[in-house]
This record gives sequence, structure tokens and C-alpha cells, in this order.
Amino acid sequence: MAHISKKWITPLKKIKQLSGFVQKTHTLRAASTLISGEPEGPTVKTDIPGPKSKQLIDELSAIQQAGSVQLFADYERSLGNYLVDVDGNVLLDVYTQISSMPLGYNHPDLLQLLNDPYNVKTIVNRPALGVFPGADWPKKLKNILLQVAPSGLNHVTTMMCGSCSNENAFKNIFIWYQRKQRGGSSDFSQEETESCMMNQSPGSPTLSVMSFQGAFHGRTLGALSTTHSKYIHKIDIPAFDWPIASFPQYRYPLHENQRENDAEDKRCLAEVEDLFAEFSKRGSPVAGIIVEPIQSEGGDNEASPQFFQELQRVVKKNGAALLIDEVQTGGGPTGKMWCHEHFGLDGPPDVVTFSKKMQLGGYYHKPDFKPSQPYRVFNTWMGDPAKLLLLQGVLEVVRRDSLLDLVQKSGKKLLTGLRSFEQEFPQLLHAARGRGTFLAISCPSTKLRDDLVARLKKKGIQTGGCGEHSIRLRPALIFTPKHADIFLDRFRQVLKETK
Ligand SMILES: Cc1ncc(COP(=O)(O)O)c(C=O)c1O
Repeated sequence: MAHISKKWITPLKKIKQLSGFVQKTHTLRAASTLISGEPEGPTVKTDIPGPKSKQLIDELSAIQQAGSVQLFADYERSLGNYLVDVDGNVLLDVYTQISSMPLGYNHPDLLQLLNDPYNVKTIVNRPALGVFPGADWPKKLKNILLQVAPSGLNHVTTMMCGSCSNENAFKNIFIWYQRKQRGGSSDFSQEETESCMMNQSPGSPTLSVMSFQGAFHGRTLGALSTTHSKYIHKIDIPAFDWPIASFPQYRYPLHENQRENDAEDKRCLAEVEDLFAEFSKRGSPVAGIIVEPIQSEGGDNEASPQFFQELQRVVKKNGAALLIDEVQTGGGPTGKMWCHEHFGLDGPPDVVTFSKKMQLGGYYHKPDFKPSQPYRVFNTWMGDPAKLLLLQGVLEVVRRDSLLDLVQKSGKKLLTGLRSFEQEFPQLLHAARGRGTFLAISCPSTKLRDDLVARLKKKGIQTGGCGEHSIRLRPALIFTPKHADIFLDRFRQVLKETK
């Protein structure tokens, strides 16, 4: 992991020393859980959703579409890796708010941040960052976000969520592409300035972003045109007619199917090349490609480092930009800060988007992708200093407690366990895969997958589905081998009862 400036974290350390906190956490770290007072294991008292959750679902449904709500949580009582619901059920959370809680619930270091009046004011005074940032903003970006930037990327734009990060990153890519078409000039013709006001070319050019089948890049209008995981996200919404290439579909276990999987990489890359040519011919050239390092919502589909290396080469050759969407994979769950760091790319991608575990959305990019004029990529808040404050706390804990090492250790235990289940229950599970604790396993059918996820919950384990028939694991970075044991033990019980 790129290191976090020591100078920057001193004030936080001082606060902790004053409260005797450092000493307390030191002893905690020796224990099998990193969080003092965390439950020993899950306990389930009612159906989930229980009666109180059901009542609240009714109340919410009266004012909005609440069909996706699984339960109502008690965030006062949730702690560490355990999510407590309003009915008093205690769930080991291996899903963590769709992979967005890096340190679990109520982490003491994050709560501690709010004891500093300076930090409280950071929450109270939310600036329009593009116009009135606080004096500490450039330093915060440098000392927090840029300290963990993918190597070679030294520019960052902050945003709100994952979708709007991708959405705005597309704009940076189009602006970069058009500047190249103008021979590097940032001057516009009168025809361009007038035609864009009527959504016509040349001011509003016909350009495209290539994406992959099975991808998920968000639900805002532009990003949705690159999302292809489930029809329910897309139906009735107009979409850009942009190119969509096949993403590798591997056979498992990987080491027994190397030849077929290499051929699959080649097939998909050939399609990428063909689509570049086809869309250029159609008058809608591809300005950029967006790709997840592991397709997450779409089913935890992975591709080899060689696939990504070659993809980067093809993108470069065609004069387009490579955007790696690390919204779900970024922030440590694969055992590295950024999943694409596993790929050995030839230099950095052009743009890397983030959100979820990073607490705020945004993207790292090469300097060429900074527009020459202001207000071209802009909104009122453009991120949130309060969330950056949380990220500062998160990164300090990640470093202090060596959480990326812990992710690798716990992940190894989980993956070994999942692989043993494949052997023991071959009719129920196959294709255990992933990196770090960012893991998944597949079932032969959607019905069986949904059934396993539901019965895991009855045993106090919150997991999530992804794709058509996979179960995904997205624990917090504080998930220890002890939690892995609890998860594997309950999962095995569920599988045995399915036999
Ligand atoms: C890879 C990826 N990109 C983008 C998004 C969209 O992020 P958000 O839901 O914050 O808009 C997600 C959300 O799950 C994601 O997994």
C-alpha cells in the first residue's frame, strides 16, 4: 500500500494519546478480534426481517419504493463485523453495506475523530468545494487521497458516489479526446459553441465509451449505458448506442483450464479490436474503455493479468483512454489498495474511479485529463471534506493494524474453506474465486443460490448474491481468521442441511 504521510496523522495520534487510546488499541490488537466488545458470534432470535423490521418496511413503503430493504439496522448497537437489527438479531456481516464499510461498525478510531472540535466543524460546514474550499483542502487531498493513489497517478477529482464518478470521468475522457482532435488546442469554434447548445455536432460530438457484457458501472444516465448486469436497472431508460465487448468467462479451477481460458482472453480481446474498428467506421469513435478489475455486481467475473495488460495495449494503440472502475474493488479488499495493482500493467491506467470503501467518490487521473477550463467537470459539492476526514481515519487504521496483510490472511483461510466445500458438495458449489477477502462461489442455479443466501442469514450470516448464481463475500478489512472460521462453520452447516 502506498504510505500515508506521517506528518499528517500526528494530530490524530495526539488526540488518542490524550485519551489513553493508543494503549487500549495496542492490547486489543493482540486479541483475535480487533474491536473491543465485539460479539462472540451471531445470534438470531426472529425471522429476518423480524416483526419490528416488517413494521418499518410497511411505514417506509407508504412513502417510497422499499422493496429492496432486507432489514432495519440498529446502528447504535452494531459493532465491528456484526450488524445488529432492530429485532435484536446479531449478524456476522460478510457483505458490509454492499462492500462499503472498511472498518465495520462504530470503529473506535472513527468515533474518536469526532472528539476534535476542528473535525466537528468540518462536518457542519460543507463547502461547495469547486468554489469555496477550506484552506486545508489541497493539503488534505495530497496527504490523504494522493498518498494512496495508484502509482503514477498524481491528479484527483472528488465526487459524490460511484456512478457520478464514472459519469464525470467519461466527461474528462471526452474532453481529453476532443482536445487531441483539435491538435492540443482548447479553443472552440463558433460553430462548436453554438451547435452544442442544440445537442448537435460538432459541439456535441458523436463519441462512444466501450464497456463489457456483465459490467456494472452505476445507474446515472451515462454510466447506465455501460452497465449490463441486470435488465431491471436499464429497462425503459434511453441508452447510448455504445460498443459492448464480451468479458472473459473462465472455466474453473483455473489451473486445470489454462489453455481454454487463454483462448477466451484472446476471443474477447479480438472483439475489442473489432469494435474499435466498427465504431470508428460508424462515425462514433471509441474515446475510452471502462472495465472493472473483477466484475462485481455481474457475478464476480475475473480476468487474467495478461488480459488486462493486453487490453491496455489495445486501448493505447487505438488512441483511447483506459478507465479502471475500482468502485467496489478499491480500498483494500483484494489485499492491495487497488485491485489493478495485481495485474502488472505497463504504466498506470489513464483514469481510476473509486467510492464505497474510500468513503467518498472520485477518480485519479493522468494530468492530460484535467480540462483546461473550469466548470467543465463540476457540481455544487464535488465530494465532501467530512468523508475525507473519515477516510483519513480509515487509512491510518489500515496502516497501523496492517489490515492489508490481515485481508490476505483471512482471505486465504476463506478461499481454502470455500475450495474444500467445492470438493465436499460438488452438486451445490463450484468456481470458488477471487483475491484477498473479495471472494465468490457459484451455485448451479439462481434458486439454489437464493436459498443458500437466505438460510445463511437464518444462521446469522449476512452475505450477498451477485450475477445469476453466485454468492459474494465482502467483509470489512477488520475481518479476522476467527470470523472466517465462524462463517465457514455456519456455511458448512447450511450445505450439510441441503444435501
Ligand atoms: C464497480 C462499480 N461501479 C460503480 C458502482 C456505482 O456506485 P454507486 O452505487 O455508489 O453509484 C458500483 C456499485 O455497486 C460498482 O460496484
